[in-house]
Amino acid sequence: MKRTIIITGGAGFIGSHVVRLFVNKHPEYKIINLDKLTYAGNLANLKDIEDKPNYKFVKMDICDFEAVYQLMQDEQVDGIIHLAAESHVDRSIKDPFTFAKTNVMGTLSLLQAAKLYWESQPVPYQVAHSSQSTVQCLFYHISTDEVYGALAMNHPEGIPAPHQTIASAHSSQLETHGSLAYGSEFFYETTKYNPHSPYSASKASSDHFVRAYHDTYGMPTIVTNCSNNYGPYQFPEKLIPLFINNIRHRKPLPVYGKGENVRDWLYVEDHARAIDLIFHKGKIAETYNIGGFNEWKNIDLIKVVIKTVDIALGRVALNDEQRALSSSQLTAHSSMPDSAFPDLDLITYVTDRLGHDARYAIDSTKLQKELGWEPSLQFEEGIEKTVRWYLDNQDWMDNVTSGDYQKYYEEMYKPTQS
Ligand SMILES: NC(=O)c1ccc[n+]([C@@H]2O[C@H](COP(=O)([O-])OP(=O)(O)OC[C@H]3O[C@@H](n4cnc5c(N)ncnc54)[C@H](O)[C@@H]3O)[C@@H](O)[C@H]2O)c1
Repeated sequence: MKRTIIITGGAGFIGSHVVRLFVNKHPEYKIINLDKLTYAGNLANLKDIEDKPNYKFVKMDICDFEAVYQLMQDEQVDGIIHLAAESHVDRSIKDPFTFAKTNVMGTLSLLQAAKLYWESQPVPYQVAHSSQSTVQCLFYHISTDEVYGALAMNHPEGIPAPHQTIASAHSSQLETHGSLAYGSEFFYETTKYNPHSPYSASKASSDHFVRAYHDTYGMPTIVTNCSNNYGPYQFPEKLIPLFINNIRHRKPLPVYGKGENVRDWLYVEDHARAIDLIFHKGKIAETYNIGGFNEWKNIDLIKVVIKTVDIALGRVALNDEQRALSSSQLTAHSSMPDSAFPDLDLITYVTDRLGHDARYAIDSTKLQKELGWEPSLQFEEGIEKTVRWYLDNQDWMDNVTSGDYQKYYEEMYKPTQS
């Protein structure tokens, strides 16, 4: 079936994985990557698919209602997967206005453009690409688990997590701590919103607008709330790529507070896979939580990252038996003492982030039960893949950290000479 889908924020971290998946998996669809290319947007993330016939990039601000509305009409768009956002909590603490503008007003502008175009169709909210194929429209909004607030850490020592996945069962088999929970409560789809940072407050507000467009105008919408993502192409102001880069250069690793905060981590390609599944099979007006069933204290996660980088860079002495193991097996087993890893002393504790939430833990069993999705990767394996990608793509990292990536766009899309 033919479809024309706008993916907003497709030049960012998660968006680039979603664009790649859709362009490769659905050659019959036209995929339009709509991105303003802020500091976080990088077209080099999509170099491998930019020449595909079913891919188109449009540099546009989601807040520019007129331009978005025109694009929807010109391209006869029937689906929107909305990822464009300001996404970094620390930046939101310094500059909340930009977050309200992009995340709230930008989402509203997209919703209104979609409403006007989709309601102008002969059958509202159905776009006819030809006489044979009429497509039900969908506005799919990508959000975060941070809208739910924070959970108590009433088991700081860790208890067995109530849910197992194929990946986490594999994890216990490897005797890792991957399937622990640090509290007895979880975020469910029914959990009351209680955002604490300007970032999560802006995302919460945008989620409400999306649901309001369903309830008020009948727009087909879906919202998903996902936990922390990690993997290739993440802007290196976020914890995992920042630390991989710092370890590589033997620079200090700033850890907030005591590093006790707990987050649930999901490999980004698993998130993209969930988005594809929900876009096609999800129920209209539903909310789905997406999580890794994978809680980690920041300090434990940082140690896994350091150990994985140290092994990858040959900074640890391994005996023959250890050399035969993968780095995920080495970091998962506790057989190697911390003293074997020279870069653990790069950890530097810094003043905690303002209002730093203690624990996020998402329950995504609804998605597992209704649509059969679950994470595919055991955490140490995901980290090993991630570390290897950043070390193998040092040019990408160096370009991003030097700001050179911004020149890539100017070179790729030079104005035509008159
Ligand atoms: N990263 C995570 O762990 C995580 C977890 C759950 C949900 N999310 C959500 O997923 C989405 C993507 O997150 P990410 O980490 O990939 O973000 P990111 O910061 O890496 O990318 C955001 C993208 O949006 C673009 N953008 C920003 N403002 C824009 C505007 N006004 N108009 C058009 N494009 C604009 C940027 O250029 C960039 O390409 C966000 O909505 C975020 O809230 C992220």
